[in-house]
Amino acid sequence: MEPTVAKPGFLRNVLVRLLLFGVFIVIIRFAYIITIAGETCNVGDFCFFSSPEKINVAVTGSGSGGVAGAGALAVRSSSELALPVHHASKDWINGVRFYSSVFQNLIVAGYLSPEAKSLCVDTVTGRDVFALKEIGVVDSVGISKKALKPLVKSGEGHRIPFGNNTFDFVFSGEGGLERTVKPVEFAREIARTLKPEGFAVFHVKTKDSYSYNSFVDLFKFCCKVVKFNDIQGFDDSMPEIREIVVKKIGYRNIDSDIELIENKKCSVAGYKRELVKNAEELIEEEPLKPWITLKKNVKNIKYASSMVDISFKSRYVYVDVGARSYGSSIGSWFKKQYPKQNKTFHVYAIEADKAFHEEYVMKKGVTLLPYAAWVKNESLVFEINNDPGDKKTEKVGRGMGRIQPLDSQGGGGGGVHKIQGFDFAEWLKSTVTMNDFVVMKMDVEGTEFDLIPRLFETGAICLVDEIFLECHYNRWQRCCPGQRSPKYEKTYDQCLQLFNSLRQSGVLVHQWF
Ligand SMILES: *[C@@H]1O[C@H](CO)[C@@H](O)[C@H](O)[C@H]1NC(C)=O
Ligand SMILES: *[C@@H]1O[C@H](CO)[C@@H](O)[C@H](O)[C@H]1NC(C)=O
Ligand SMILES: *[C@@H]1O[C@H](CO)[C@@H](O)[C@H](O)[C@H]1NC(C)=O
Repeated sequence: MEPTVAKPGFLRNVLVRLLLFGVFIVIIRFAYIITIAGETCNVGDFCFFSSPEKINVAVTGSGSGGVAGAGALAVRSSSELALPVHHASKDWINGVRFYSSVFQNLIVAGYLSPEAKSLCVDTVTGRDVFALKEIGVVDSVGISKKALKPLVKSGEGHRIPFGNNTFDFVFSGEGGLERTVKPVEFAREIARTLKPEGFAVFHVKTKDSYSYNSFVDLFKFCCKVVKFNDIQGFDDSMPEIREIVVKKIGYRNIDSDIELIENKKCSVAGYKRELVKNAEELIEEEPLKPWITLKKNVKNIKYASSMVDISFKSRYVYVDVGARSYGSSIGSWFKKQYPKQNKTFHVYAIEADKAFHEEYVMKKGVTLLPYAAWVKNESLVFEINNDPGDKKTEKVGRGMGRIQPLDSQGGGGGGVHKIQGFDFAEWLKSTVTMNDFVVMKMDVEGTEFDLIPRLFETGAICLVDEIFLECHYNRWQRCCPGQRSPKYEKTYDQCLQLFNSLRQSGVLVHQWF
């Protein structure tokens, strides 16, 4: 029996050895290409084993590449760059063709020159760097999380491993700026490494005017957008691309934010008006059963973040003014239902009532401001408010009544509490910037008629992208048909005026309940 077993065993042994030898050859060859061939192969004088990997991309014939400058570039494009074998795939070649055409058009337009020292940021494949070299921009390098010799060095867009004022041209393709979690650092790093008067070109996916304006704001500190146009992509990941060309002008004071706010230019920003135009209609007629109508209205709400792309924002902030318990709206609504485009929002809960403070201690990503939002820093009084007609309110917990300055207090009954009020508009201006995406919910028992005008007066309203506002008026009561709530003196029409004035100023406001 044994000899018959031995024969196939021997054969297998030989096969395994042959296979191992094959693997060995491949490794040696790979090591050779990486360590020795590397860049010297580019010269094309002596390249052992490299002939199958050589690819010569016919740049001049591709796509819209037949541009005026192509003739001058053709000399260079005949040089062959040797690359590891996995680069010769069809996808890779398509990408190189696409980028060659893109860069040639940029040369023709004067944003790039063959002498330019160039950087491609967050390039996973190095196709853009390869294309640059192919069309003759030889002094080009890429950076990516994972290095890919010889074209791509290790580095990331938000921490570029080069000195100040190094490059004439920086390219960020494949929606790199949209994908980064640190767009502000990314923009700052590109501005830092770009020479004065240098150009940076971005390929982004999004096209709505809101995100375009966020992009412009992101670069306001250093640069000017000189051109944008839409081009067709080369694969499914980005079928349509918006190409934006930015020029470095020099550093500007970022406090221009404040200037802008003081001029109140933002209040008429066209792109914000557009957003408002697409919002749900306001309920023009006073509802007879507001406790039903307004609650139902939540289903109609068109959220800002479901209409536009919010990628180019620096931070994402939710301010809950009159937050009450964590579960009453932050936990039950904002965390669960507000569409966040996968962004992490920082939450500011503004709640003066001590009864709710304890539970906020444990909440991550939530900052509690244990004061009342008011129009200036001063002590205030408020009543603990148990709406007699509303059993649900009693059960859920207490709510704050309308707050008043301490000295205007009348008799001062038993349920009156003293609290600290703060200047909400000033706080907002010192806490967020125009580069942040700011969502606000405001439920302040009638104080909205003080706070909203103050937001306008100070320009702080410009910092808010979207408001969910509960407007308090003498509404029809559930308990007692035909009777209005005696708690508030404003009318539904006054509320409607408040909503309309916000929308007319380009603030996306929703009727909250
Ligand atoms: C590089 O530029 C940054 C941003 O302008 C600046 O803060 C830093 O000091 C500069 N570094 C050097 C070495 O000049
Ligand atoms: C959010 O992330 C999930 C999973 O990573 C993804 O499927 C989804 O498309 C993302 N949504 C948005 C709006 O980016
Ligand atoms: C109000 O109080 C805050 C916090 O204590 C302080 O930073 C701010 O300067 C004060 N504002 C005014 C107008 O006094």
